[in-house]
Amino acid sequence: GRHLLGLQGMHPTRITPFLDLAESYALMNRSRQTPRDRLRGRTVINLFFEDSTRTRTSFELAAKRLGADVVNMTVATSSVNKGETLLDTAATLNAMRTDLLVVRHSQSGAPALLARKVEASVINAGDGTHEHPTQALLDALTIRRHFGTLHGLTVAICGDVSHSRVARSNIHLLTAMGAKVRVVGPPTLIPGAIGALGVDIHYTMEDGLRDADVVMMLRMQRERMNGGQVPSPREYFRFYGLDLKRLALARPGALVMHPGPMNRGVEIESRVADSDQSVIREQVEMGVAVRMAVLDLLSRAGDLT
Ligand code: CP
Repeated sequence: GRHLLGLQGMHPTRITPFLDLAESYALMNRSRQTPRDRLRGRTVINLFFEDSTRTRTSFELAAKRLGADVVNMTVATSSVNKGETLLDTAATLNAMRTDLLVVRHSQSGAPALLARKVEASVINAGDGTHEHPTQALLDALTIRRHFGTLHGLTVAICGDVSHSRVARSNIHLLTAMGAKVRVVGPPTLIPGAIGALGVDIHYTMEDGLRDADVVMMLRMQRERMNGGQVPSPREYFRFYGLDLKRLALARPGALVMHPGPMNRGVEIESRVADSDQSVIREQVEMGVAVRMAVLDLLSRAGDLT
């Protein structure tokens, strides 16, 4: 399709080309030789209504490494603050002949709404608690580089699953590719309905981590817990933090992942985050490669929608 709004229902034959192309871009990034004519003459706008370090920076680098013209719209200093609506903002950017629009928004479904109103290809860079497709693609690429495949692996996604678009996109992708997915966390942060997505639910780390090939940690999203009961960081770490003792329950050499931003000492101990088993830095590296592949493939897709 022309847009990348989410991974729910996406067939492996559509997922794999993103991973394969990203793999080759990862190699080109390492040798600092990327095809700078690939997106020459194309315009990419990063439209971020929510904070970001990794996603925004890596989309910008990805676009530049393929030779596109990139504009970062910082919403904090834009006319959104003067009352301009999301759709009027989109119409304005559309009039500037944007080819690719990368959107992050606190409302689930905002990128899909924009996709119906603009001619540009829209890429969801994270919408509310809904999806973060490029994050799941970069996670999948990182895992595939270590195991050669996703099929048959056991992946434990741990923490605040309720508020996590990263968890949702990963569940859709990993189950489609034949991995077994577990979600692990306190009952208050695991939506009961998540079981319908084909995952197993565990309420203790001791159960959930046993024999896992991959342990993916999530941050508590306090900014989305409006008024509800929020566990204290210390209490959370005691029951759901990943320390070396708990990690030892997973398969020997299990990968430790985190989409970032990390809260050290809350969901993950520093010694684990910085251990040999941690691939957190590699995830960031693959993030640039995956976003290059997404920009490239969507710009080729033209009007295939
Ligand atoms: N993983 C992720 O989306 O990080 P940022 O919020 O820093 O982009």
